[in-house]
Amino acid sequence: MNQSEQSAVSRRGFLRAVGVSGGAGAMLATMGALGLAPTAASAAPPFQAPTHSDFNLTGRRRARVVVLGGGVAGLAVAYELGKAGYDCTVLEARSRAGGRNLTIRGGDVETDLDGHTQRARFSDGGYLNAGPARIAQWMVTMDYCRELGVPVEVFTNANADAWIYNESAGMTAPVRYRTAKADVYGYVSELLAKATDQGALDDRLSADDKQRLLSFLQSYGAIGGRTSGWAYTGTSRRGFASYPGAGNDGGSLLGAPPPLADVFASNVGRYFSFELGYDQAMLMFQPVGGMDQIPRALARAIGKHRITLGAEVTGVTDRGGQVEVTYRHGGRERMVRADYCVATLPPHLMARVPHNLGADVTAALGSFPATASGKIGLEYRSRWWELDQRIYGGITETDLDVSHIWYPSYGFHGRRGVIVGYYNTGANARAYSALTPAQRQERAVMQGVKIHGEKYRSELVTAYSHAWDRTRYLEGAWTSPPHGSAGYDLLLRPAGRVYFAGDWLSHEVAWQHGSFVSARAVVTALHQRVMAS
Ligand code: FAD
Ligand code: PHE
Repeated sequence: MNQSEQSAVSRRGFLRAVGVSGGAGAMLATMGALGLAPTAASAAPPFQAPTHSDFNLTGRRRARVVVLGGGVAGLAVAYELGKAGYDCTVLEARSRAGGRNLTIRGGDVETDLDGHTQRARFSDGGYLNAGPARIAQWMVTMDYCRELGVPVEVFTNANADAWIYNESAGMTAPVRYRTAKADVYGYVSELLAKATDQGALDDRLSADDKQRLLSFLQSYGAIGGRTSGWAYTGTSRRGFASYPGAGNDGGSLLGAPPPLADVFASNVGRYFSFELGYDQAMLMFQPVGGMDQIPRALARAIGKHRITLGAEVTGVTDRGGQVEVTYRHGGRERMVRADYCVATLPPHLMARVPHNLGADVTAALGSFPATASGKIGLEYRSRWWELDQRIYGGITETDLDVSHIWYPSYGFHGRRGVIVGYYNTGANARAYSALTPAQRQERAVMQGVKIHGEKYRSELVTAYSHAWDRTRYLEGAWTSPPHGSAGYDLLLRPAGRVYFAGDWLSHEVAWQHGSFVSARAVVTALHQRVMAS
């Protein structure tokens, strides 16, 4: 495997593939800009939410803050500032809070920028997390779930029983992850063991190192010993055609592995590095009942009266002592004045909002390109993937344009279930977003049949597809922050009384974690300023 294949589905590779550059960490630069990093070598101080006593003890007036955008970042800002009694108003253009954190259930209606209206017809309990769907254990998102009382459950991110299918490599049938892994690990171990034993690595390994490496490879790849030439011949790790049973029934093994050249030519190994990414893992988490339980809980904690839905921000003016924000609501132009403003709109959309914050701010906002991503939810009248194919959650990986097929990590053994029939990015996402919803469904099903057979079509009840690049008020899935540029650093600082927040101002783009930590950084900076004034 070459370097680019190895990184094909790693986080960095994934993000690069869709236009997001990872970039080296400049965490301390961020903190420095906020006045939080006394020395370059110090670690980030733990976040401390402002408290009521900060105001009570100092007799200060509680500042008024208008928050633009009611996604995770905007809601987190209002939630944290609200703990100290700040008077916050959130202006959100869409008809519900959450932004990209969007869960689609039966009855939900969405009209996209091309005028396609879809009414989701999923049955009770079924849903599609159109945006975020998984959370790593270390992410601050988990802390917010705990604090807000949002129950979480396991999200199966990697499943040995899910499929891999690479059509362009000439595969005519899918192969189970377990089988593909056994073969790739087996042959790689055989090759490395042979090379090691023949002395190819003698300038690198001592005699003891060699012994230890050989014994590791024997267990890692399930290969034979020296007498068999370290050969990989396949074991029960590949799986069974029929599993072992009672008495003398040892089951029947899948059989011998394909030749080494065929295994490498199938290119199945490119998917194995995915779960090694620090932000991914076999085991991840999801809120019970849909990812939007997070914004729902935030909105409840903030107080619904503080969130104006259907409020499209049309202008921001810093008057020196105050900020004026104009917005369209219920067909009328309105205005709100506040001491401070926190803008959490996607940067490429904020760049279009008229303001008096300076041309450099507009230019900086415009330097974040938006990328495309889409998903389709397919509801089936039976859970055939569990019944017939014994797949309980997890992801099938494919080089088809659907990219990833996700099986639900909830509702096991229920009557129906919603599969994510595609989750794609970049050119594949744009190809699907250019289609009508009916065409997307047809194409996704046609692809899925190649892997799962006719039930993928015959058991289908209903579908809903979401194209983020065609979604009003978002027009993209995530961005590629120009980390380290003057423009990026400019937006980490307030423009007068206006602050900016969102995952795009973090090193965890495409993760709610990035939105939360960015919100926290702004809350800290704003509160310090209020306390110092
Ligand atoms: P946004 O959600 O973009 O919020 C911006 C808000 O501004 C929106 O509500 C928008 O409606 C509003 N707005 C725009 N224009 C105006 C206007 N003129 N006036 C008023 N309001 C306006 N994260 C994870 O943690 N796990 C995942 O598995 C994951 N997967 C993802 C998969 C996909 C397909 C996508 C798209 C995202 C995924 N993410 C994931 C990332 C996560 O969704 C984001 O990091 C997070 O939701 C962004 O929140 P935000 O508040 O920063 O921005
Ligand atoms: N956070 C998103 C997801 O998990 C996008 C992403 C994919 C980010 C893969 C990094 C790696 O689906």
